[in-house]
Amino acid sequence: MALDDKGGVWKSGRGRGRRTPKGRQLDDAAWAEVRALLGDAPRRRDLLIEYLHLIQDRYGCLSAAHLRALAEELGTGMAEIWEVATFYAHFDPVKEGETPPPDLTIRVCDSLSCELAGSEALIAALERGMDPNRIRVLRAPCMGRCDTAPVAEIGHRHVDHATPARVEAALAAGDFHPEIPAYETLAAYRAAGGYATLARLRESGDWKQVQETVLASGLRGLGGAGFPAGRKWGFVRANPGPRYLAVNGDEGEPGTFKDRCYLERTPHLMLEGMLIAAWAVEAERCFIYMRDEYPAVLEILRREIAALEAAGIVAPGQVELRRGAGAYICGEESAMIESIEGKRGLPRQRPPYVASVGIFGRPTLVHNVETLHWVARVCREGPQILNAVEKNGRKGLRSFSVSGRVAKPGVYLLPAGSTIRDVIEAAGGMAEGHAFKAYQPGGPSSGLLPASLDDVPLDFDTLQPHGSFIGSAAVVVLSDKDSARDAALNMLRFFEAESCGQCTPCRVGCEKAVKLMQAGSWDRALLEDLCQVMADASICGLGQAAPNPIRLVMKHFPDEV
Ligand SMILES: Cc1cc2nc3c(=O)[nH]c(=O)nc-3n(C[C@H](O)[C@H](O)[C@H](O)COP(=O)(O)O)c2cc1C
Ligand code: SF4
Ligand code: FES
Repeated sequence: MALDDKGGVWKSGRGRGRRTPKGRQLDDAAWAEVRALLGDAPRRRDLLIEYLHLIQDRYGCLSAAHLRALAEELGTGMAEIWEVATFYAHFDPVKEGETPPPDLTIRVCDSLSCELAGSEALIAALERGMDPNRIRVLRAPCMGRCDTAPVAEIGHRHVDHATPARVEAALAAGDFHPEIPAYETLAAYRAAGGYATLARLRESGDWKQVQETVLASGLRGLGGAGFPAGRKWGFVRANPGPRYLAVNGDEGEPGTFKDRCYLERTPHLMLEGMLIAAWAVEAERCFIYMRDEYPAVLEILRREIAALEAAGIVAPGQVELRRGAGAYICGEESAMIESIEGKRGLPRQRPPYVASVGIFGRPTLVHNVETLHWVARVCREGPQILNAVEKNGRKGLRSFSVSGRVAKPGVYLLPAGSTIRDVIEAAGGMAEGHAFKAYQPGGPSSGLLPASLDDVPLDFDTLQPHGSFIGSAAVVVLSDKDSARDAALNMLRFFEAESCGQCTPCRVGCEKAVKLMQAGSWDRALLEDLCQVMADASICGLGQAAPNPIRLVMKHFPDEV
């Protein structure tokens, strides 16, 4: 083929050769910005979500140019980056030509306790009062501060008992960083005997003895499933190493805030419990998955992990802190593991269970924050701190997160055999002017029970005959001023928004349920049909438990629907 001097064979044809490869081009300026943000950090694919946070924090959104540059840095495809960026509520991917969000975001919680406390009126007032070019107002699910409902968050600054005036005052103050509460530091914790148990066990401990102690205490998983804590250790150990440990700090079940309270006061109890459990199963590395809604806890953990490294209690890099990005489903353990691996939080099909195939395909011990807090206490103080507490035939203690129509919302540590009456009493009784009508015993997944069921111990296994379960012990109390039907609708809206969409019964079922529940009178037969399919055919606990509020409201509050 002859080449002419006007551009050669490549410029023949219509005279417009392709000057670049197909697809989105790498923008040199955006690439330099991403490289500057990442600095010396290793270019690891599993750290993708951490890198997306860096860009989102710095530029207020994720532009297509920055995402393309990040794909280049990580040596991965743009599609992979995009699918992760679009999965999480705290990221704002922006395509070319689209308008980026305004500089400031106010999130207002619209989950049940905040709705009861007037979040709808607050959202309406803020939407009316803010210049949308400067500030956007978004709805958000539970922020784990239900004891100070309604709650708003400006940037990373929370506004408790939020009103338009308080939000205005916070805006005027201009500090949008989290407020770090006074907490027990490593030095204080060690001065009080902290980490002595860990040191003794590492020196000459017998893991089986520790397992026996934990089993004898009766400690069960406090993330919701209630699996006996020590028993899981044996399953993980039965698989050949390397093994990992993951701390579930996602605490997304609306109404739950116990993990936050423990970590904002005594973070080292969880950290020592984690290191004891890691020692027991010979886990090489620990990953702490912490929800992005808890920026103060994230900062506390950053500081205290660094302090542990400096004190030589953990090796550098042995404990990795991972920041969630606004996705309730990432509390489900296999979805959490996907997220730790830098992917979308889609729950995995089981088996295999995470105890044998977890993070990076390795055996992984997953524990809730509070479970590990108790591991440390049981190992230091003995199993009797839990098993000697008895009430109504049940043993142990339960941290109830109590909110709604009580006088003093908060976390109350009570015997596991406590009834709702005991819980309300501990929380100062009903709020003034309110008469007890109904309660959510353990998050929306547990549905809603009537006040007449006030003599059931709120423990694992006791609520199943009533079509409910205690889960994470997130108690929301409703009064005669509230509608059970509206509460159930609030719960289903939450599930609809948070369903990962992977399986049809849950994705479509939640959406259809919300539509049916908005009708003047509910089509009970159709709703029951829908509930059955969702409960039977959903992959994970979200879709399986989402029918509970519907069924329990139809059963106990038929005149409302
Ligand atoms: C939809 C869904 C959400 C969950 N969210 C959480 C959570 O936020 N925190 C948590 O510790 N466990 C959560 N779990 C339970 C975890 O899957 C897992 O059982 C738990 O982390 C194990 O720790 P544990 O044995 O110490 O409770 C959730 C489960 C489901 C099905
Ligand atoms: S049940 Fe819902 S949340 Fe769970 S995997 Fe299916 S779609 Fe996702
Ligand atoms: S913070 Fe609003 S319901 Fe929990």
